[in-house]
Amino acid sequence: MKIAIIGKGNVGTALQNGLSRGGHETRFGHRDPNESVVDAAKWGEVIILAVPHDAADDARGNIKAYADGKTVIDVMNAMDKNMELGISCTTSTAEETQKQLSKAHVVKAFNTVFAPNQSTAKVDGQQLTAFFAGDDAGAKQTVAQLTRDMGFDPVDCGPLKNARFLEAMGNMLINLAYKYGMGSGIGYKLVKA
Ligand SMILES: NC(=O)c1ccc[n+]([C@@H]2O[C@H](COP(=O)([O-])OP(=O)(O)OC[C@H]3O[C@@H](n4cnc5c(N)ncnc54)[C@H](OP(=O)(O)O)[C@@H]3O)[C@@H](O)[C@H]2O)c1
Repeated sequence: MKIAIIGKGNVGTALQNGLSRGGHETRFGHRDPNESVVDAAKWGEVIILAVPHDAADDARGNIKAYADGKTVIDVMNAMDKNMELGISCTTSTAEETQKQLSKAHVVKAFNTVFAPNQSTAKVDGQQLTAFFAGDDAGAKQTVAQLTRDMGFDPVDCGPLKNARFLEAMGNMLINLAYKYGMGSGIGYKLVKA
């Protein structure tokens, strides 16, 4: 698939590696006019939003005209400088994205995985889970397939409002790594009987 990645930081570049390895075509959009957000969003069949939460409104505004009917993957974790949730528990960045891009099919994904592990889908050789949530069945199928192509074990976490739980999980992971001393070589794996 043709996948536009908005944001070329830790997450954008890690996802680009993983998706390319999985056989997908990618194009970045960020604040560099040579790789504009608009050009990438126009081109992409799927658009990944991988910018800091405080840049979300700007990025959403720039992709809005090109997002109708497309799968938009929201990877953001809203966090304040004390590593607390940076958005109320009664919503999520993904639901805010859906509100602003009302005709897109927003799916929350990848936010529970640290960037270096997004490119490998593994920690210490162990396969990680890719939790995702969204309201559109077709968009969720697309995301499940993309994560599988990258090497993850995809797990459907239900409707988009469950992004609230996924964003809390993302925040917990960051706390475990940086507040409670475990470091970034950790990841979530759901085990099943
Ligand atoms: N780091 C992780 O392990 C991790 C894991 C899961 C989720 N997340 C979430 O993923 C998002 C990105 O994290 P990151 O670590 O990749 O951040 P980062 O390394 O700071 O990269 C952010 C990228 O977004 C670009 N950007 C900033 N404002 C923009 C705008 N208005 N329009 C377009 N591009 C803009 C940045 O600058 P330039 O435009 O100058 O290139 C940069 O390329 C965050 O919401 C974070 O919470 C991070």
